[in-house]
Amino acid sequence: MVTKIDGKRLATKMQTNLAKKVKDLKQTYDIVPGLVVILVGEDPASQVYVRNKERSALAAGFKSEVVRLPETISQEDLLTLVKSYNNDQTFHGILVQLPLPRHIDEEAILMAISPEKDVDGFHPVNMGLLWSGHAIMKPCTPAGIMEMFKEYNISLLGKNALVIGRSNIVGKPMAQLLLDENATVTIAHSRTKNLQELAKTADILVVAIGRGHMITKDFVKPGAVVIDVGMNRDDNGKLIGDVKFDEVADIASYITPVPGGVGPMTITMLLEQTYESALRKIN
Ligand code: GUN
Repeated sequence: MVTKIDGKRLATKMQTNLAKKVKDLKQTYDIVPGLVVILVGEDPASQVYVRNKERSALAAGFKSEVVRLPETISQEDLLTLVKSYNNDQTFHGILVQLPLPRHIDEEAILMAISPEKDVDGFHPVNMGLLWSGHAIMKPCTPAGIMEMFKEYNISLLGKNALVIGRSNIVGKPMAQLLLDENATVTIAHSRTKNLQELAKTADILVVAIGRGHMITKDFVKPGAVVIDVGMNRDDNGKLIGDVKFDEVADIASYITPVPGGVGPMTITMLLEQTYESALRKIN
């Protein structure tokens, strides 16, 4: 029998816990974790993500600010803004929502965020710390997936893990976190040969391709743990994952649904890391 990994339930549990910790931090040290989210332009998906982040931050008792900027903002003005939040002691986390408009150099903006406040874990310093096994800030989606493995007592030691997707946001950091837990890790991508055969050898399959329902049961080893990071829209505008849930659920041991799987955990880890950043301000 397959177990559905309930990301929504775990996220709610962790955020309720976090709200208590935030209250204690305020009472004991008079510190309120602060998160600022910077959104440039009108991308509809980004607007939804940012609204959800704000709602969750407020519900957990954080100081939350969303800066909405026009598509036409210059790189210089955006850099100046980011730097002003680096110096604002009431904010412990800064997130610049991606993607940014084309005229802005994304790398330059991400590099301008102080690594101590980089709650996305995208700054090269934080990426380097992650790859050397000393992560402080981890990219939130892979960090959330690791929490799921913990919650469901899924052992990674010696397991064959395949990560499909090599982005800086998900694939690469996911591989490193799995490696930290002693899995044997392979990263596959759009140029990988014989993906199907490779996928069939995986005990742990993390799918972050961005192509709706691409992973059918023919890619999955019976008894595998399947984590679906995909967020795609089908022809009717319905949110679907990269994995064909119904048929893969017939053979997997654990599987995450979309929606209600990985997504809610990403926000949870964002809040956790902002809280941890605030905690580091004590003494
Ligand atoms: N856009 C899509 N996912 C993310 C994310 O995790 N962080 C940021 N900053 N932007 C995103």
